Amino acid sequence: MPCVWLLYVSITIPYRNYLQQTLNDAVGKRIVIDFLGFNWDWINKQQNGNNWGPLTANLLLIGQEGNYTPVHYDEQHNLFAQVQGCKRIFLFPPSQFECLYPYPVYHPCDRQCQVDLRAPDFDRFPKLKRLKGYEVIVKPGDVLYIPMYWFHHVESIIGSGITTSITFWYKSGPTGKIEYPLKPQQKMAMMRNIEKMITEALNSSEEVPPFMQNMVLGRYT
Ligand code: FUM
Ligand code: FE
Repeated sequence: MPCVWLLYVSITIPYRNYLQQTLNDAVGKRIVIDFLGFNWDWINKQQNGNNWGPLTANLLLIGQEGNYTPVHYDEQHNLFAQVQGCKRIFLFPPSQFECLYPYPVYHPCDRQCQVDLRAPDFDRFPKLKRLKGYEVIVKPGDVLYIPMYWFHHVESIIGSGITTSITFWYKSGPTGKIEYPLKPQQKMAMMRNIEKMITEALNSSEEVPPFMQNMVLGRYT
């Protein structure tokens, strides 16, 4: 995996618009007709061949060049279809969890990371220096698979005009027999469940950090 810091060039534009709209009947007939023209045979083959669960939603993203979506992960598989303009996507596998410092599950920014890849703060997030991932450019007609729990940061490339993308989100399929050692994404799911359980049991998100620290610091560290 290449080191992201060798590849990253920061982008700054003061004001931009970014429409992110779930595709449904309300978006207008012409968009629905275009959407129905998607290669459904191909996409259904991906769903069945990979044993994913049902398609849950499609998001239409239309934005100006220079827009970006900060690094985060989703809890569903994503087939990301690029329709217009080009995007640069950084992908990081679940094994990079500790380098990206995701927010706690109870936090309003749950699933997003505390690090800012455009302005890395290595003093506050020292493990960020070790971050390794992949860079990909998607062009019109490309479809990128972003697996569930993979971190991704998305930028609309400057000079490529308005960008249009459509995501196809799928639930995970039925899980078979659990095999050890567990995969990093399974450990992420476990951490989410444990964090949720503790937050619920304490009935106060403020009590979670000292509780977790008492449990771990000096005992497991
Ligand atoms: O900005 C974006 O295109 C983000 C897409 C995603 O997170 O799936
Ligand atoms: Fe996403």
